[in-house]
Amino acid sequence: MSKFIKKKNSQFFGTLRRLEDWFERRRRILPWRDKPTLYRVWISEIMLQQTQVATVIPYFERFLTRFPDIETLAQSSEDEVLSQWAGLGYYSRARNLHRTAILIGARGFPKDRETWLELPGIGNYTAGAILSIALNQPEPILDGNVERVLSRVYRNSDKKLLWRAADFFVKSAFEKKIAPSILNQALMELGATVCSPKKPACQTCPLKSFCQARSKGDPENFPTARKKKIWLQIQEELYCLIANETQTQILVRKRLPGEWRAGLWDLPNRQELENIFPRFSARTSWKSLGRIETRHIVTRHKISRTTHLIQGSGARFCGKVPQGFQWISASTPGLAFGSALRRTLKKLRETFPEALQ
Ligand code: ADE
Repeated sequence: MSKFIKKKNSQFFGTLRRLEDWFERRRRILPWRDKPTLYRVWISEIMLQQTQVATVIPYFERFLTRFPDIETLAQSSEDEVLSQWAGLGYYSRARNLHRTAILIGARGFPKDRETWLELPGIGNYTAGAILSIALNQPEPILDGNVERVLSRVYRNSDKKLLWRAADFFVKSAFEKKIAPSILNQALMELGATVCSPKKPACQTCPLKSFCQARSKGDPENFPTARKKKIWLQIQEELYCLIANETQTQILVRKRLPGEWRAGLWDLPNRQELENIFPRFSARTSWKSLGRIETRHIVTRHKISRTTHLIQGSGARFCGKVPQGFQWISASTPGLAFGSALRRTLKKLRETFPEALQ
């Protein structure tokens, strides 16, 4: 962070003002920029994932006419939502949008990043975009366009550093009363219209006096193509055990010191379940509700994980479990549980909503 803080001087704040002015003058007129409510911004950001602005515009307008608010969307069937989505592609977006609508219809719109991230179809970029554009919260965003802009500004292609840069930009702007909604959309717009992959229009760029790649004359070299990583493939087979028909608690296990990903909570494997529940090996003591496949990336490891959702019956699996194991509610895995477990549970909840409310 110190790298950015050193730059936090009047030149930097002047640059932010120029960016704000530039956006006010040059912004494109787009339907979701009109009345940027949580509902409209959320729908637009989901449509804009993997799809160009020009393609999205007519879909957005039709969708909002058919489903003008969250209640209408939550009460519609998945088929109706899919039929309005037809032609936009990546249909899991529509299915997740519908599931999320039902959850929001029941609980209201989340107001913070963590709660948004729990919802189907919402990743870091989308959560930041919704919170900053609709609620003016100083939350960072990094999509392909913003990544290109910031990677040129700092002549650096490291993703983590660029997220910190995005955070630094939006929080510094906020301090100077530049709205997060304006700042983030200005960065996106700059990437989409000026800071293009090939032949960027540096002359007209509001960040030109602050941009390191421009001053070195090599913006087209950023962001650099990622180094080809050597991946290690890992297969995992884990079990999400629901205690029984009436209790929806699930069993998690903390990885031991010395184990890979030590200290992180995750789901147990079959051997661990057999160790703590001698009766587990009797196939009749639980029933299978289905399974999911997920992929996780942890440093150099690509993990393909199969998770079986199983349910005990009666009191067989109730009661005390050894140290390092814990029954938790599947709907509220906190940050301490690590991202592999949270993502696995999120997909389980999406796939088996009745079993894991
Ligand atoms: N791409 C992703 N989100 C966008 C937005 N809000 N405006 C324009 N382009 C976008």
